Amino acid sequence: MSRELNVPGLAYGGDYNPEQWPEEVWAEDVRLMGEAGVNMVSVNIFSWALLEPSEGVYDFARLDRVLDLLHAHGIAADLATPTAAPPAWFFRAYPDALPVDSGGRRLSYGSRQTFCPSSPAYREAALRIARVLGERYADHPAVVMWHVHNEYGCHNAECYCDTSAQAFRRWLRERYGDDLAALNHAWGTAFWSQWYYDWDEILPPRATGAVPNPTHRLDWRRFCSDELLALCKAERAVLAEAAPALPATTNFMVMYNFDALDYWRWAPELDVVSNDHYLRSTDPESEIDIAMSGDVVRSLAGGRPWLLMEHSTGAVNWQPVNRAKGPGELRRNALAHVARGADGIAYFQWRAAKAGAEQWHSAMLPHAGTDSVIWRDVVQLGTDLRALAEVRGAVGTAETAIVWDWDARWALELPSQPSEEVRYLDLVRSWYEPLWRAGVAVDFVRPDADLSAYRLVLAPSLYLVDDAGAANLTGFAQRGGTLAVGFHSGAVDENCHVRLGGYPGAFRETLGVRTDELFPLLPGESVGLSGGVGEDRGRDGGGSGTGSVWSERVRLAGAEAVASYTNGPLTGVPAVTRQGHGTGAAWYLATLPDPDTLAALLERIREEAGVRPVAEGVPEGIEAVRRRGADADYLFLIDHGGVGADLPVAADSVELLTGERLTAGTVTVPPGGVAVVREVVAR
Ligand code: GLA
Repeated sequence: MSRELNVPGLAYGGDYNPEQWPEEVWAEDVRLMGEAGVNMVSVNIFSWALLEPSEGVYDFARLDRVLDLLHAHGIAADLATPTAAPPAWFFRAYPDALPVDSGGRRLSYGSRQTFCPSSPAYREAALRIARVLGERYADHPAVVMWHVHNEYGCHNAECYCDTSAQAFRRWLRERYGDDLAALNHAWGTAFWSQWYYDWDEILPPRATGAVPNPTHRLDWRRFCSDELLALCKAERAVLAEAAPALPATTNFMVMYNFDALDYWRWAPELDVVSNDHYLRSTDPESEIDIAMSGDVVRSLAGGRPWLLMEHSTGAVNWQPVNRAKGPGELRRNALAHVARGADGIAYFQWRAAKAGAEQWHSAMLPHAGTDSVIWRDVVQLGTDLRALAEVRGAVGTAETAIVWDWDARWALELPSQPSEEVRYLDLVRSWYEPLWRAGVAVDFVRPDADLSAYRLVLAPSLYLVDDAGAANLTGFAQRGGTLAVGFHSGAVDENCHVRLGGYPGAFRETLGVRTDELFPLLPGESVGLSGGVGEDRGRDGGGSGTGSVWSERVRLAGAEAVASYTNGPLTGVPAVTRQGHGTGAAWYLATLPDPDTLAALLERIREEAGVRPVAEGVPEGIEAVRRRGADADYLFLIDHGGVGADLPVAADSVELLTGERLTAGTVTVPPGGVAVVREVVAR
């Protein structure tokens, strides 16, 4: 049963940690929450030590008062189980529950998430407090959702202790049907004398002298994701018993630097998908990262709306240098998440901490208090979100899908690959960027997803693919869809075994090419590209571009060459190919074209596929995103260029942030600002 979040309009708030403050401050908190339009906060995330001062002894008085106070002020609570931060007493009693790193070093408590995911003592203690909490607050009128744990795997995705080793063996026995020969085959253990004769010989991939076995390492990553998922499901089940009608979420981390969990496996276990997203200070175009993350999260949610559970009003505190946001950036960031399908916007955290590890992290209410730019922006955003209440429930509209797969990501980045320069996220983002700039809506899909809704499917990087996924993608192209595949895809099966007979293995026939040798390029090295790629649009205007990162000796086997290398050992060899299939086509990009060339190429491919941007005539610098409601479309126009524009809109449209009726058929997007246009569409 999937349960809905019962908060009117769009949710707005943040992590609220009143236990860090004297109670006198709480009254000001709720008053200011009212001023900002906050209607939901996440509470209790790190309160375990205060709730359970010693094993089995509880003190809920403070949390009772917090929830009552919130309720009295009309603020809903997303009530967290505090299991991300077990207390010191727990680790003194159960020192084996502390995690061990790959070098065999047992870590200490004193921060957070310092537990081994496979520890029976941790599991018991976590489920016990989840049950007590669930039973106590199931009917509390403030509580609208369970927030299970916090960012599973943020700090402890991998534990290499003996307990984890046992759990890993259990997981492997299940995966290989208790058949050790099947495991030996899958892992290729005839290599380097790694054959196992007894399950107990198998260890986590602890630090070792030479390159580890790739399939061992890949199964370990699958296991680590599943092990934390098992904890999440167990907590969720306990809470569902206590409060069958309340929805549950856990905050995902779909952002650039986190890849520990296979969220395709997690999302179906939750009623509401929520995500945390932070900007990378060194990324000059963070807005693209927000969009991509939002598109992935919406896709994880099956296209349904989701919640942005955390982001920052300004600087974070965990990067080498923590950049503050520029004028209007808080608003653009938040509304960009709404544009990508978020039905709620929340921050880490409500009030900036005075003490503790995150005292230099921004918040909705900064250290400076209400006489501050951030506070004024926070209040303005509350007004904006109220004005956008009707957007709630509206969905995305993509005709293009990008294949996204954690198995492929993990496998690509295993050690001892042809090139360490080939990084999953960089490749996906390289392909996503030109689509973003062109205002093309994108969903993300698993390799085995139902593709019938799409005209165009892109697989920028799919090193590993199983037979079912490969058949699904090639079938899409053979039935008349347009498929584009990036280099080094289809190379191995689900066990990391090379698909023999030439690269790109699983996609060779459909792409109509065959490669006999890979020629990865050195950092900074590039090769010239000639041919039809980006005619008149190439970097130097002459239709020529360059490729970097990768090249390979492709031979045509049915496909036509669209571009070829102009220098180096592969001069004259095809670099980009196209194989027609009825009304569709299958494209292969055997290198990473420079950004202009890649943009031109993807434009040609999507035009061929008949994919249009979500709005016509939108100038560079303005991000256009559409959400589709029951009887209107919501067109989000976000100006990142700082110039603004007047754009045509459908008759009888309304700009929701100002409430202006657009009788002249144009909307003004202010410089650095946002416009959200309700366009009534006949369905
Ligand atoms: C994560 C955590 C929060 C906080 C923020 C800081 O998202 O969930 O508790 O530590 O990072 O950016």
